[in-house]
Order: sequence, then structure tokens, then C-alpha cells
Amino acid sequence: MTGSSRSAKDFFRPLAVGAPSPLTEIPARPSRAIHFFDPSNEKMAAKIPAMVGTVDVLLGNLEDAVKADNKLAAREGLVKIAKATDFGPTQLWTRINSLDSPWVLDDLTTLVPAIGGKLDVIMVPKVQGAEDIHYVDRLLAQLEAKAGLDRPILIHAILETARGVANVEEICGASPRMQGLSLGPADLAADRRMKTTRVGGGHPGYLVREDPPRVDGTANLEAHRATYQQDLWHYTIARMVDACAMHGIYPYYGPFGDIADVVACEDQFRNAFLLGCVGTWSLHPKQIAIANRVFSPSVEDILHARRVVAAMGDGTGAVMLDGKMEDDASLKQCLVMVRLAEELAA
Ligand code: GLV
Ligand code: MG
Repeated sequence: MTGSSRSAKDFFRPLAVGAPSPLTEIPARPSRAIHFFDPSNEKMAAKIPAMVGTVDVLLGNLEDAVKADNKLAAREGLVKIAKATDFGPTQLWTRINSLDSPWVLDDLTTLVPAIGGKLDVIMVPKVQGAEDIHYVDRLLAQLEAKAGLDRPILIHAILETARGVANVEEICGASPRMQGLSLGPADLAADRRMKTTRVGGGHPGYLVREDPPRVDGTANLEAHRATYQQDLWHYTIARMVDACAMHGIYPYYGPFGDIADVVACEDQFRNAFLLGCVGTWSLHPKQIAIANRVFSPSVEDILHARRVVAAMGDGTGAVMLDGKMEDDASLKQCLVMVRLAEELAA
């Protein structure tokens, strides 16, 4: 989401309530996979230049999963990589430490002057409400002005506290810098006191069971009854998608921690895509390919969408295609698909 004609000084004040998001003016750039790396891990960091162009977003992670003793090395490592690398079509993001940590102020005051011109988006964890976004927005504006940056750095919030979920609409609208939101299922599960021990994904205990068969009105409780696993994250993703759509910003799934289970990973990503998310996190290179595939409309979907667009002519009324009724509303859904395909192909 870069290339805006707006300058950093336009972002000096938090957005007035009800004002439209500037992202409607900023051409979207694909961000199907946000690939996390630990800049304090020299082996991992050395692989980053070769990943440019293979993934939509590379994110230098400074927060959880980086040991407390390595926070400084991670920050310095990110500066070193950013200065030495031409990121071309790949966006560079970072995840800073949380606003209640002892590291976050140094994260921002180091990164913006050193590499602010190369950072597209700053991911802020554990956002609780609009006040957190206002704080980061104002600090970024001051640091950008001091550094003479001519392009605003955008903000992405992680939805990973119960309070954050309760305040999701105000978070999305808190600043014109808001680029999007991600689900943070691991921290959210802990904050909600869910009884899970996983990073994203489902749980075999969270299910519904088929009704027992009945003979003469009596339930046969001994009979085998199928069970269906339910989606732990449906409610939060649906709220996040609605809040993002309302404010013209982008919703993302988040981490899927069982790296070996590529099948369940793809299922989670696909559910999120179908519900409206534009991308997800990648914690391992093999999740990049899954995300790129899932968050791009399929060839069949694009061909069908184009047929509906062509058949609908001026876009009003209704037509029958393959025995199904298409009208203005199905046309709008097809246009979402066609425009996404165009953005990804650009
Ligand atoms: C991500 O940060 C999570 O907590 O799931
Ligand atoms: Mg988290």
C-alpha cells in the first residue's frame, strides 16, 4: 500500500471520526503472505535477500519469539538488512514490541530515522483500543518529520486481546495510517482464557455431534454418530472483516503454528480468504506457497466472474447463466474477484 501522493505531514493528526480512509486513494499492493523472520538470527537473516520477489511481504519480527536478550540484536539486524537490500516489489514490514514493553520506544526511535524510507508498514501487537493507534500515529508523525521522510509509514494492528476485539471498529478507524488488521490467535486465546495450547488452527475437542438415530421415538445413544470440528476463529475473523471493510482497510488471518500440517494450514487460510481476508502470515517458507495459492482467486473463479461481468452488460437487471440467476449483487461479488486478479497480475 505505498505510492501515495500524500506526504508524511498529512498524517500529523489522528483521523477525525468519520473521515474516509486515505487507503481508498492508495493503489493496493498484494500482501498474500507476510513472511516473518527474526533479524537477530544470522542464518535466517542471510537468506532474506534471496527471498525478495518470491513473497509479497518480508517482516522483520522484533516481538514475541525473539528472546529478551536478543531484542537489540534484532533491531540492529533489521537496520543492517534493510540498508543492504533492494526490496524491489516486496514490501518491508516490521513487528515492533508491544506498547507496554521496555523495548518499543527504542524500536521506533531507532527504526524510523535509520530505515523509515524503506519501511512500508509497522505491525503493532496487542492493540487494545484507538488510544494505542493514536499514540503510534503521533510518534511516527514526529519521527518522520524529524527524519524528513516524504512518505507515511502505515500501521497494521494485531487483534489479540479481548479488549482489542471489543474495540475493533474504533481501532480500524483510529488513523489514516491504518493499513489492516491480523488475527493473533495465540495471544487472544490466552487473553480470553480459552483452554487451548496452539498457535492458530482448530481443536479436536471443539465439535458438534450428529443427533442420535431414533427408533420409535427413542434415541439410540449407543449408535455411532459423526462429529464435525467447528472453527474456533470464525467469530473473531468475521468481526475483523466487517470492521476492516467498514473502514476500507485489509483483514488478514495470522499465524498457523503447526508447520508440518500443511493440509489444516491450507484449510484455515482458505476459510479466511472466503470470509474476506486478503492474506495471512507465513512462519516457514513452505507456508508462502500455500498463502500465495489460497489468497489468489482460482482460474475457474476468474473465468466465471468475467463471464458474469460480460453477461450483465450495463450492470443492472438479472440474467440466467448455467441455470443460475445473476444480478447486481452477484455482479459486485464477481467484480471483487476480477479486481483482485488484476491487482495480483499488475
Ligand atoms: C500472534 O502474535 C499471536 O499471538 O497469535
Ligand atoms: Mg501475539
